[in-house]
Amino acid sequence: MALSPQWLDELRSRVTLSSVIMRTVKLQKAGHEWKACCPFHDEKSPSFTVNDQKSFYHCFGCQAHGDVISWMTDQRGMSFMDAVKELAAEAGMEVPAADPQSAARAEQRAGLHDVMQSAQDYFVRNLQGNDGAGARDYLKGRGFDQHTIERFGFGYAPPDRQAMKSALSEYEEPMLIEGGLRIAVDDKDPYDRFRSRLMLPIQDARGRVIAFGGRILETNTKAPKYLNSPDTPLFDKGRNLYNLHRAGPASRKTNRVVVVEGYMDVIALAAAGIEDAVAPMGTALTETQIEMLWRMVETPVLCFDGDAAGQRAAMRAVERALPMLRPAHSLRIVRLPSGLDPDDLLRQKGRKAMDDVLEGAATLLDTLWTFERDAHPLTTPEDKAGLKARLLGHTDAIQDSDIRSLYRRELLERFSAFAYPPREQKPWVKREWKPGGFKQANPTLSPDAAARLKRSSSGGSRDILANAVVAGLARHPDQILRHADQLERFAASDNRVGPTIDSLIEAAEVLEPGDTSPILIPDGISQAPDETRFSFLREGTDPKAACDDLAEAVSLLVERPALEAALAAATARFETDPEGAFTEQQRLLKRKLEFEQRLGQMVSERAAKAAQSDSDRQTAQTDSQDDIETD
Ligand code: UTP
Ligand code: MN
Repeated sequence: MALSPQWLDELRSRVTLSSVIMRTVKLQKAGHEWKACCPFHDEKSPSFTVNDQKSFYHCFGCQAHGDVISWMTDQRGMSFMDAVKELAAEAGMEVPAADPQSAARAEQRAGLHDVMQSAQDYFVRNLQGNDGAGARDYLKGRGFDQHTIERFGFGYAPPDRQAMKSALSEYEEPMLIEGGLRIAVDDKDPYDRFRSRLMLPIQDARGRVIAFGGRILETNTKAPKYLNSPDTPLFDKGRNLYNLHRAGPASRKTNRVVVVEGYMDVIALAAAGIEDAVAPMGTALTETQIEMLWRMVETPVLCFDGDAAGQRAAMRAVERALPMLRPAHSLRIVRLPSGLDPDDLLRQKGRKAMDDVLEGAATLLDTLWTFERDAHPLTTPEDKAGLKARLLGHTDAIQDSDIRSLYRRELLERFSAFAYPPREQKPWVKREWKPGGFKQANPTLSPDAAARLKRSSSGGSRDILANAVVAGLARHPDQILRHADQLERFAASDNRVGPTIDSLIEAAEVLEPGDTSPILIPDGISQAPDETRFSFLREGTDPKAACDDLAEAVSLLVERPALEAALAAATARFETDPEGAFTEQQRLLKRKLEFEQRLGQMVSERAAKAAQSDSDRQTAQTDSQDDIETD
C-alpha cells in the first residue's frame, strides 16, 4: 500500500485534532490551544495541551507527544492502518488501495485470528473445568493470584490428541493446521500440538491472540519445558515480543522497557506491579525486536538470568545491537545475582530488590568492557593483545562513525589504563608574565579563524546557537578542553564554524590549567551575537551556572546535525516502510520539539521562569485550575 508523507499530511490537516481528542478527553480552551489533565499519566493539574494549528498534542508532564494518527494508535490502541482508515473516512479521503494479493492475505489472516481466539477460549474453559485441576494447583503453587491468571489468559491443554479438533469443529482442519494448533505429518492423522500443558496466549501489539506457549506440568518427562507455536501467517517469533500490547502503554508512563527472558518472568513482574516488561519467544533478540524496543524508548533495559546462559544471551543481544547503534539509542544491561531469574529474585527478595537491580543497569559500553576483560585470564602480553583485538572487533562492528570512534577511544583508554602503567600527563606550555598582565600573553585566534568568525558574526550566518557557542568558549576558555571530544567531532562535520572551533581548541591547549581569562578575538569583531540572550555571555552570571549553560549549548549544537540527519532518513524511508517511518518521524519530531524548548529556555529568562513555576505547580500537586499557557 502506497501511503505517502504528503497524503498523511493532507489527512492531518483535514481532521481537527481537538475534535478527535474531545471525544474521550474533556478539553478546555486556553488561548489558541486546548488543555486537559493528561490521559497518558495520572495528574491533578493539566499539563496536556492540544494545538490545532500545529496539529499536535504534547504533555509537559510525561512528554507524551503526537498527532492525530498517534492519538488513535497510542491512546485508542488501534493499529496504524485502522487509524488511517477511520480518519480518512471522516476526512472524506480515499485510502490508496492495496493490491489484490495482499488483500487475499489479509482475509486469510482475519480467519486465522478467529481460530486463535476460539482456541484461547477453549484453553481457558479447560483450565476452569475438571481437567484443569492439576494446572490450577500448579498456578497456585507458583503464587499467581486469580486476577493475574485471568489478565494473562492462562489456560490448559488436555492430554487427548484429538481434543482440539472436536472442540473447534466449526473450523476446517487446514485452518487449525495453518494456525499451528494441529500437526499434520505426511499420511498420518493430524493431532493436537499442545497436550497436557499450561497454556499462555501470545498476543500482537493490538492484543489479538496470534500464538501460544505451553509449559509442561509434570517434572519427570523428557519433553521440552516450553513448547511454542511454529511460525504461521500470524506469528513470526522474531517480529513479536511477548506482552508488547500491555508493556507499550506502560512504558509511556515509566519511559522504560525491561526485556526479560521468559514469559513467567514477565508475568511475575506484572503481578508485582512492574508492567513495562516484554520477553522474546525463546530465541535470541533479533534486529527487528531491537528496533521495536527502540520505538518505545531510547534505551531498553535487558534483564537476563544470572547464570552463564543468561549472560551469554545478553552478550548476543549486545553484539546484535552494535552495528545498529545510532545517536541516543542504546541498551542497558542488568546483571542479576547468579542463578536467579527475575521471577526468583522477586519471590526471594521482593519488589524493592528488583527495582534496585533495574536502577543499577550497566551501560552497553561497560557491559562490553567487563565481559571481555573477564572472559579470559590476562597474564601474558599475548593475552592482553587478545583483549585489545576483541575490543576492536566489537567497535569495528559499529556502523555509525561517531559512535564507533567514541567507543574506540573509550575502550582503548580503558585498555591502556589496564594494560600499561598510567601515562605521563601532557605538559602544558608555560606562559610568562609580561608587562600589562597575562591578558597580553593570551592566545588569539588564527587570522583565518578570526576572519571566518567576523563574517559569521556580521550577519553572514544566522546561526545564533553556533555563534553563541563560539563566543561562549572564547569567553570561558577553561571549559573548552572539557568539551573537546564533542567539539572536535562537531567541527569535523561543519565547515562554517568548524575551523573556528578547531582553532579555539588549539588556543585552549596552550592555556595554563585554571586560567580563566578570555581568549582574545582580534579587533573589529562584535564578539557576541547577542550578549544578553545567553547567560554565559552576560556579565555577572554565576560562573557555575554559566558553565552549565555553556555545556548545554555545546551539547545542543552537537546534537542538532544528528537529529536533522535522522529526520531526513526517516522521511526517505516513507516509500518502503510507511508505518515504521511514521513512528520514527513522530519520535524524532518530539525530540526536535524538546530540543527547541531547551534552546528557547536558554535564551529567554521569561520562558525559563515560566517553566520553573510550571514544574513547581506539578510538584505541589495542587488542584488549581491555573492556566498553563505562558503567552
Ligand atoms: P527458562 O528455562 O529460563 O524458563 O526459559 P522460565 O521462564 O524460568 O520458566 P519457569 O520459571 O521454569 O516456568 C526461558 C524462556 O526460554 C524459552 C521460553 O520462552 C521461556 O520462557 N524456552 C525455554 C523454550 O522455548 N523452550 C524450553 O524448553 C525452555
Ligand atoms: Mn523461572
